Amino acid sequence: MTGNMHGLLQIGSFPPEVQSRLDAEFDCLRAADLDTALARDPARADSIRALVTRSNLEVPASLVERLPRLEIIATCGVGYDLIPLELAARRGIAVSNTPDVLNAAVAELCIGGLLSLLRKLPQADRYVREGRWVDASFPLASSLAGKRVGIAGLGRIGKDIARRLEPFGVSLAYHGRTDQRLAWRFEAELAALARDVDVLIVAAPGGRETARMIDARVLDALGPQGVLVNVARGSLVDQEALLAALEQGRIAGAALDVFDNEPDVDARFFGLENVLLMPHIGSATHETRAAMAELMLDNLRAWFRDGRVLTPVALK
Ligand code: NAP
Ligand code: 8YV
Repeated sequence: MTGNMHGLLQIGSFPPEVQSRLDAEFDCLRAADLDTALARDPARADSIRALVTRSNLEVPASLVERLPRLEIIATCGVGYDLIPLELAARRGIAVSNTPDVLNAAVAELCIGGLLSLLRKLPQADRYVREGRWVDASFPLASSLAGKRVGIAGLGRIGKDIARRLEPFGVSLAYHGRTDQRLAWRFEAELAALARDVDVLIVAAPGGRETARMIDARVLDALGPQGVLVNVARGSLVDQEALLAALEQGRIAGAALDVFDNEPDVDARFFGLENVLLMPHIGSATHETRAAMAELMLDNLRAWFRDGRVLTPVALK
C-alpha cells in the first residue's frame, strides 16, 4: 500500500479521465507490469486488494490465484462471462459489474444496426460517395415496420430493445429460461422462436450455458428471409455455422457487434455484403462509458468504505 491507498491491479486501459481518478484513489499497477513488480518486491502481491477490468477482457484464474489478499473484482461493463466467478466465490472475493447504465446505448446500437442492415445504409453511403447515383437509383431494401422480431435473452438490455422497437410497428416475442409473463409472447424453444420471426436479436449473457446456442439448426429455422442481430457475445453464436449460412444465403443477413476472438474478426466476414460489422461498440458512447466508470468507482469505494458493493454479480 502506498500511504493509506489500497493496492489495485488493472487489466486493460481506461480513458485518461477515469485513469486519473483511479490513480488518485488507489495504488494502481497494470497487470502487464505485475511480473516485473513482483520480481522487484514479492510482497507487492499482498498489497493488492482490488482488481479492475472491462467486461470484454478476460480475468485469468491464474492471475487471481497470484493475489492472496484480493477482496474485490470490479468490472466496467455488465457482462461477467470472462471472470472466474466460482474461484471468486470460493475465495470470498466480491464481484461487481455496471448494469442498467448501459441499457440505452446498447439498445440504440442494436436498433441502429438492424435498420442499417435492412436499409443497407453503409452501401447507400458508398453509392453516393462513389458517384453511382447519377447512373441509377439505389436498389430497394427492406422495411422494419411490420416485421416479427424475436429476442433471445429478455433481460435489462433485451427489454430496453423491445420497448424501443415497439413504436416501429413490429410484433415481439422472446426466448429465455423463464416465462416472465409479459405482454410479449414467450417461446420456450429457441428454434421455434427463430422459425416464427423475421429478425432474431441475441441479448443473453455469454458463458458456458449459452455457448453456441445460435447454431446451424437455429439459423436454418430463421431462414433465407431472416436476419440475425448479435449485441451479446460472440460465444453465443456458432460462428462457422453463421458464416456458412451467410455465404449460402440460408439467412438473409446479420448485424454483428460481437465476434469470436475479438478484435481479430474472421476475414471471411469482410467479403460479405449481407453483414453489418461493428467493433464491439454497444456501450461505446461518451455518456454511457462515463456512467459505467462512475459506477465501477462507486462499487470500489462502497467496498472499502462499507464492505459491500452496490451492484454485485451473484453466482447463480
Ligand atoms: P440480464 O439482465 O442478466 O439479462 C440476460 C437475459 O438473458 C435474461 O433475461 C435471462 O432470462 C436470459 N438468459 C440467461 N441465460 C439464458 C439461457 N441459457 N438461455 C436463454 N436466455 C437466457 O443481462 P443484461 O444486462 O441485459 O446484459 C445482457 C448481455 O449483453 C451481457 O451479459 C453482455 O454479454 C451483453 N452486452 C454487450 C454489450 C456490447 O457492447 N455489445 C454491452 C453490454 C452488454 P432467463 O433468466 O429467464 O433465462
Ligand atoms: C464493453 C460489454 O465491452 O458491458 C459489457 O458487457 O461488453 C461492453 O460494455 C466493455 O465492457 C466496456 O468497457
